[in-house]
Amino acid sequence: MVHDDGYFDERVAARYDESDETSDAGAVDPVIDFLVEIAGSGRALELGIGTGRIALPLARRGVPVHGIDLSKAMVARLRAKPGGEDIGVTIGDFATTRVEGSFSVAYLVFNTIMNLTTQAAQVACFRNVGAHLEPGGCFVIEVGVPELQRLPPGDTVRAFHVSETRWGFDEYDVATQGLTSHHFEIFDGRVERTSIPFRYAWPSELDLMAQLAGMSLRERWSGWRREPFTSDSRKHVSVWEKPAV
Ligand SMILES: C[S@@+](CC[C@H](N)C(=O)[O-])C[C@H]1O[C@@H](n2cnc3c(N)ncnc32)[C@H](O)[C@@H]1O
Repeated sequence: MVHDDGYFDERVAARYDESDETSDAGAVDPVIDFLVEIAGSGRALELGIGTGRIALPLARRGVPVHGIDLSKAMVARLRAKPGGEDIGVTIGDFATTRVEGSFSVAYLVFNTIMNLTTQAAQVACFRNVGAHLEPGGCFVIEVGVPELQRLPPGDTVRAFHVSETRWGFDEYDVATQGLTSHHFEIFDGRVERTSIPFRYAWPSELDLMAQLAGMSLRERWSGWRREPFTSDSRKHVSVWEKPAV
């Protein structure tokens, strides 16, 4: 069910920081190292700041961070954490919401560009970032490579998580570049289902969106430790740069 908070409503927000992926503190360190280096002495803008998983440790490393998010439930979790009151957050859609000032880096991690489910919204997001970056500033995205070559032959569904208490399936609609992630999890003896729609895009399409927004590709890696991006990479960390003049 869609709420004002989008798909990240109170039920999702309450458990967000407990999943295997989000509770892995070791996974955050290389993200922060990467962003600190790119931010330099400037400010950072996080699109989809959520519960502050990245923003809080980045701010602790001395980078001023401002966030945009449409989910008040997620931002309430950020506010409840030490230092959370000190981070500026604007509630709104990161494809269109403007905030004051300019930034040396804007970042959109953890597949969140795919939460924008139309090409027009994704292009608007790149243009919005371009408008916020100072000359020479960078836009960093972390997102999965579409898994089409890993789909079972003739099938449109792929399991991405199977355990005793949680099952996840991605359902692809190639005609629309649609991807719905279905999550089933046992809570208090009951199975709860959450299905979230995404729009997948190849790295080359994101490069074209960056070009439309006046940016060009500076770096592309398969991980935050600058691992090489190859034909087998499951995700990419890409950095597009706005011209310095
Ligand atoms: C997967 S969470 C990532 C949160 C955080 N960046 C992290 O890495 O833990 C996605 C976040 O993006 C927000 N979000 C999704 N689509 C959005 C949109 N169009 N505008 C603003 N926020 C959005 C959600 O509310 C949620 O907080």
